[in-house]
Amino acid sequence: MRDIKDLREEILISLKNASSNEYEALKIKYLGRKGVITSILRGLKGVPKEERKIIGMEANKLKKEIEEFFKQHKVERAKSSSGKFRDYTLPGRKNLPGAVHPVSRALDEIINIFMRLGFSIEYGPEIESDYYNFEALNIPKHHPSRDMQDTFYIAESDKLLRTHTSPVQIRTMERQKPPIRVIAPGRCYRKDEIDPSHSPVFHQVEGLYVDENVTFADLKGILSAFAGDFFGPDTKTRFTPSFFPFTEPSSEMYVSCVFCGGKGCNVCQYTGWLEVLGCGLVNPKVFEYVGYDTEKYSGFAFGLGVERFAMLKYGIDDMRLLYENNIEFLKGVIK
Ligand code: PHE
Repeated sequence: MRDIKDLREEILISLKNASSNEYEALKIKYLGRKGVITSILRGLKGVPKEERKIIGMEANKLKKEIEEFFKQHKVERAKSSSGKFRDYTLPGRKNLPGAVHPVSRALDEIINIFMRLGFSIEYGPEIESDYYNFEALNIPKHHPSRDMQDTFYIAESDKLLRTHTSPVQIRTMERQKPPIRVIAPGRCYRKDEIDPSHSPVFHQVEGLYVDENVTFADLKGILSAFAGDFFGPDTKTRFTPSFFPFTEPSSEMYVSCVFCGGKGCNVCQYTGWLEVLGCGLVNPKVFEYVGYDTEKYSGFAFGLGVERFAMLKYGIDDMRLLYENNIEFLKGVIK
């Protein structure tokens, strides 16, 4: 009994002197499974019946007293200096590591490959004039790509949102003399309905290579090397005739299907080939607009859609997924 009285004294003093960050440890020391009070109550077994009753009562009283103390001080302990409730027993919050968006990732890779091939980067404005977006690219007034349906015009001005990155070709050639090896990445705008393969805002990478004696073989060499780097060394390329007002001849580059390796599947519609970009030799009419000697210089140009490249590389079948900001999708898409 004397011991319990002393113990009570001792405990109350230490509780009074303790600072709130020590409460947790004291609580365990006194009330824990191996705590002082608990061992007293456990030790009662060996005590004669009469004494056991009294000591038990006292020990339980002390236990209640200490519990009461912690009950009163708990709220205080759980409040931080800012007064907000903090539960330090909650598991820690995991840091979600950020990741590069698939479109940025594909763009970074495209840029890296062309940098290694000796290209540098040019940028142009997203708000363009009719002259750079159409006129100087030999897109005649009646050409369908000028149709109000396709282009966002800015009211009461000759300005528009660029429909492709090709105007950067003109801006670059106005500034520089050949040899030119540039790519121009950037955002483009078209009045397209949103669907699995269209978005009114999308990204392109333009390419322009001008020098003496540039031929279609140079175009095929550079673009095939790029395709092999981007999609893998087994990728084959194929060039079919096409039409763009600013290139002559014009072509569409296909790569062997990245999903079936060319055997035929539903993505390539059982052709074994995927169309990935437009290209061609720079039309001399474009050189005339920028004052280049059409006898001396020739060149090639290409334009590709970054979303399409990202979708093919990461196996994304709906462009809308790229813009919905669904964390689960974005986490899972690039392994
Ligand atoms: N500007 C064309 C488009 O947006 C692509 C292209 C660029 C084609 C350069 C040939 C040369 O479709």
